[in-house]
Amino acid sequence: MSIDEKVGAIFYEEDKIPEKFRLQDPVVQNEYLIKGQLRIWSGPMQEVLSPVWLKGATGFFQKTVGSYPLLTERESLEALDAAILAYDSGRGPWPTMPVCDRILRVEEFSRRMLEKKDEIIHLLMWEIGKSYQESEKEFDRTIDYIRNTIDALRDLDRASSKFVAEQGIIGQIRRAPLGVVLCMGPFNYPLNETFTTIIPALIMGNTVIFKPPKFGVLLYYPLLEAFRDTFPPGVVNIVYGDGRQIITPLIASGKIDVLAFIGSSMVADLLKRQHPKPHRLRSVLGLEAKNAAIVLSDADMGPTVRECVKGSLSFNGQRCTALKILFVHSKIVDLFLERFVEEMEKLKYGMPWEEGVTITPLPETDKTAYLEGLVKDAQLFGANIMNEYGGAINKTFFYPALLYPVNDRMRVYLEEQFGPVVPVVPYDDIETPIQYIIESSYGQQVSIFGKDADTIANLVDVLVNQVCRVNINSMCQRGPDIFPFAGRKDSAEGTLSVTDALRIFSIRTIVATKDIESDKEILTKIVKERKSNFLSAGFI
Ligand code: G3H
Repeated sequence: MSIDEKVGAIFYEEDKIPEKFRLQDPVVQNEYLIKGQLRIWSGPMQEVLSPVWLKGATGFFQKTVGSYPLLTERESLEALDAAILAYDSGRGPWPTMPVCDRILRVEEFSRRMLEKKDEIIHLLMWEIGKSYQESEKEFDRTIDYIRNTIDALRDLDRASSKFVAEQGIIGQIRRAPLGVVLCMGPFNYPLNETFTTIIPALIMGNTVIFKPPKFGVLLYYPLLEAFRDTFPPGVVNIVYGDGRQIITPLIASGKIDVLAFIGSSMVADLLKRQHPKPHRLRSVLGLEAKNAAIVLSDADMGPTVRECVKGSLSFNGQRCTALKILFVHSKIVDLFLERFVEEMEKLKYGMPWEEGVTITPLPETDKTAYLEGLVKDAQLFGANIMNEYGGAINKTFFYPALLYPVNDRMRVYLEEQFGPVVPVVPYDDIETPIQYIIESSYGQQVSIFGKDADTIANLVDVLVNQVCRVNINSMCQRGPDIFPFAGRKDSAEGTLSVTDALRIFSIRTIVATKDIESDKEILTKIVKERKSNFLSAGFI
């Protein structure tokens, strides 16, 4: 069977799916969590269609995963009231709870979450088309992130438990929560990236409202009871629906203290502008990127190509950190392309439950048409599709396309494709990729492939002032999660990592007094008799 025929036959009958991976009855979520209550919703529902199509008796159909509530401004403002009440100007049980008790609650939540692992992975796979193995990895990485966050908080707390004496003043400097946090994560890591903001926000004593991403919503359903049972009422509230209806009123109220958003800069700008006092809104944003690879003339071809294929095509290129444009020295570009095609052809494509699959159907509406448009535009300006069947489409499935030679007249040169299209630009002068990166709207990461230490060192010194991570002979990536994840220009605001996130969702606050006996006695009494949750010398 040719690739073309195989792509044509990529979707098949339900009974051919191994039992373990089949989606049984649709998941109808008619509940939502506000103020510690699972409320019943009887209003309009949003149907969730999987990117996976199935073959039925009368033709192909998109599998229905289930449905979730389309809340309105009213419920959204109720969620806000609940979060404000739970925070209670910093006097609520959660923000005043000793750190060690908050840690216990988060540990309990993580235990409950583990009980739901299979259900969550299953929904993750069906909702966004992520392979089963990658979905499992996303889940496990999230559990690790929670554990690492707890460890980092313990370290932070120990470091802040000492008193500092300086110029006749004694003080204890600790971190205090900020208030109500609105968290919104992306569809490509709907669980992990949302949790990289929710967990640190919660553990630092804030209350949270979160909206699941546009795809990857139902996977939160199995967690609602755990959220309800482990946190005090109103500490976690979840809203669903159209952003304009449910998010605009939240921001416009001026009562959101922190916006944690991972998505497009256009939406981030829109949201920030809606706040009546933007200076009051602390933001942590993970936005677009167009990470480049610079392949030098002495690059070790085998490992370079393997890393570039993985970097540009893992999870169909739907990673903010994906390599989205490859600059390859013209001396080696022919060999590079040949090897790239060979390596690309080894990638398994198919349904997300199939063992070892990398290329799977895409969840975004009209995404294949968008990618087709990018490819056609590039062809118009002189690019060729270098791999057989590159760009072949079957409904939500897009067979990866390697484009060459790409130039600055093509849309794909600047647009973030966020999909399986790989543009290759040949260069002779190293200033070509350097200028591209300098002029780019984005500044997340770059990958350099080569052998010569002097050349690499020179490039490193130029590029560290343009992006936030320079990868040598390896693809761009966020992990390990203890590394700072940041970006310049339109790529990010603020830094996320296990430790940075704890700082983002809190503020350093000092309790100070004069270094005189009477005041020291008061401090000693407070600490010794554990009269305060904030002032303490306890070791957790
Ligand atoms: O989509 C952006 C993710 O943060 C990328 O994470 O590099 O580990 O795939 P990753």
